Amino acid sequence: MEKLKVAIGCDHAGLQYKEAIMDYLKIREIEFEDLGTYTPESCDYPVIAKKVAEKVANHSANRGILICGTGVGVSIAANKVHGIRAALCGDTYTARVSRAHNNANILCLGSRVIGEHLALDIVDVWLKTGFEGGRHKRRVDMIE
Ligand code: RB5
Repeated sequence: MEKLKVAIGCDHAGLQYKEAIMDYLKIREIEFEDLGTYTPESCDYPVIAKKVAEKVANHSANRGILICGTGVGVSIAANKVHGIRAALCGDTYTARVSRAHNNANILCLGSRVIGEHLALDIVDVWLKTGFEGGRHKRRVDMIE
């Protein structure tokens, strides 16, 4: 499997989840870069989503993780960056198939929607699952 380098970011609503996910990444010795936000002060999720998405799009990182209250705002914003396939996941099945079939390169999570332990399970599955290619590659290429 490719060596993972994760760009991670959140808004104020996702700060606690981002910290829990970074603890998970440290334990598993997965390299990551934290692009903020760093304090509980209210901030604008499009700014952080763009930073993470650009890191992935320019291959400074090969995966991204974004967290906001619903996961919706960061996924809409990240998907504006060319080459980004951001998947908002609230269950482990969607997380697995977003990698296997859609080759999602950013995982989006909603901290006000799912529990922290489920979020960590989703991260675990999403990072471990590879793209299946084949007929799925043809479809992903059509998006590009
Ligand atoms: C912040 O209050 C909230 O709007 C944001 O975290 C996110 O849910 C937006 O989609």
